Amino acid sequence: SSRRSNSSVMSALRSNSCSVLTTFQKECDTPTPYLRNVADAIADDMLTGLAVEGGRDLEMILTYVDALPSGKEEGLFYALDLGGTNFRVHSVQLGGMKERVIATKSETISIPQELKIGTSEELFGFIASKLANFVAKEDIPARFRLEQGRKREIGFTFSFPVNQTSIDSGTVIQWTKGFKVSGMEGKNVVACLNEAMEAHGLNMRVSALVNDAVGTLAGARYLDEDVMMGVILGTGTNACYVDQKDAIPKLQSISSSGTMVINTEWGGFSKILPRTIFDQEMDEASVNRGEHLYEKMVSGMYLGEIGRRVLLQMCESSHLFGQSVPVKLSIPFALSTKDLCKMQEDKTDDLLIVGSILNKSLEVEANLEARRRVSEVCDAVVKRGGRLAGAGIVAIVEKIEKDTKRLSSGQRTVVAIDGILYGNNPLYQMYLQDAVVELLGDKLASHIDFKHTKDLSGIGAALLAATNSIY
Ligand code: GLC
Repeated sequence: SSRRSNSSVMSALRSNSCSVLTTFQKECDTPTPYLRNVADAIADDMLTGLAVEGGRDLEMILTYVDALPSGKEEGLFYALDLGGTNFRVHSVQLGGMKERVIATKSETISIPQELKIGTSEELFGFIASKLANFVAKEDIPARFRLEQGRKREIGFTFSFPVNQTSIDSGTVIQWTKGFKVSGMEGKNVVACLNEAMEAHGLNMRVSALVNDAVGTLAGARYLDEDVMMGVILGTGTNACYVDQKDAIPKLQSISSSGTMVINTEWGGFSKILPRTIFDQEMDEASVNRGEHLYEKMVSGMYLGEIGRRVLLQMCESSHLFGQSVPVKLSIPFALSTKDLCKMQEDKTDDLLIVGSILNKSLEVEANLEARRRVSEVCDAVVKRGGRLAGAGIVAIVEKIEKDTKRLSSGQRTVVAIDGILYGNNPLYQMYLQDAVVELLGDKLASHIDFKHTKDLSGIGAALLAATNSIY
């Protein structure tokens, strides 16, 4: 009898764990009609953001990029890239129409955690010092030596929402992705960098302040004229696209012919999202609570953490990995998105990769049944993220289509996508692209080319620095 009661306890526990899992799966589900509503709601927010300045879910930031690279850019330009896990410095030698990109060099520096939540002086001092080291090591060809009285020009990729007032100035609207830097309220981001560069004896000036999505679009457009959108699916997520100026009501007073790149800041989208208790709790614990909710369901900083929270709950309510809750599983962000994605992609019969990742990262021994459940959790998280990102792309593609009729006239339209989450995970890519085809239909979707780009935002920023050079 004791055996029987034991096994009934076990089966009750198991069904508990199943119920956490099945409820989670159900809540993450994004069937086509639902996803259509998400795309439409994003489209609505886009229109609102284009009509009025600020305060909406989608900021639809005017970037003042109305000339994209043409190929004629010439000279040596630098680029700084701040806003993901790493900070990057690039130098780009541009040789004009014939030679194009002659050489590039770059260095990646990881940002100490304390600087992400420190003061602006500390952060920009750090950036300027790394830039000074990089520049000191440069061996500049004679043709690119600086003429007397000139400064070297930089494109600054600053990947946060910025209220841009011109191509080379703007103020931070809010911090995202775990950054919260003090002392920058109302302060021009470019001035912060210029001051720090001066303090480090650098004879340089910022001539373009760009978002990473915008840098990606510019870099990709330099290589391919059909690029109309830049998307980031990395630590955070965002998208920008080329819009017609006469379709941007809030711009009317400035000018109305030609095009301008719009930085959507779609990470801020928040309506009708399939949020679970785990999303809500993760948001509660974040430094930007209540903000960038779409980003928190779609991008690399968060997917692992959502998975960890689900697994923890499954351990607590049903002993997913045996009697005790693994210590590591209780530590926020202990499960990386990289590991979550690798587990999701494990196609071995016995889910051996899942087993070894659980073992290495979380120090747990998981039997086959537990490994199966873990893999289903990972799949639900990745699938929901990829499909939601696909809905965002559809909202933008349909906006472009409305104004230009590119797709219906059979014109190839390229979506340039950068970011490690997209780049490293074929299943995420598949979920995203499937969602786009589901919503747009085969015919229109067949003219869309998803192009995975790598680190083009640095080159893009250097190109925009060249386009906007004051010399
Ligand atoms: C966050 C930032 C946005 C950036 C994106 C990708 O959403 O707010 O500016 O483009 O992350 O890095």
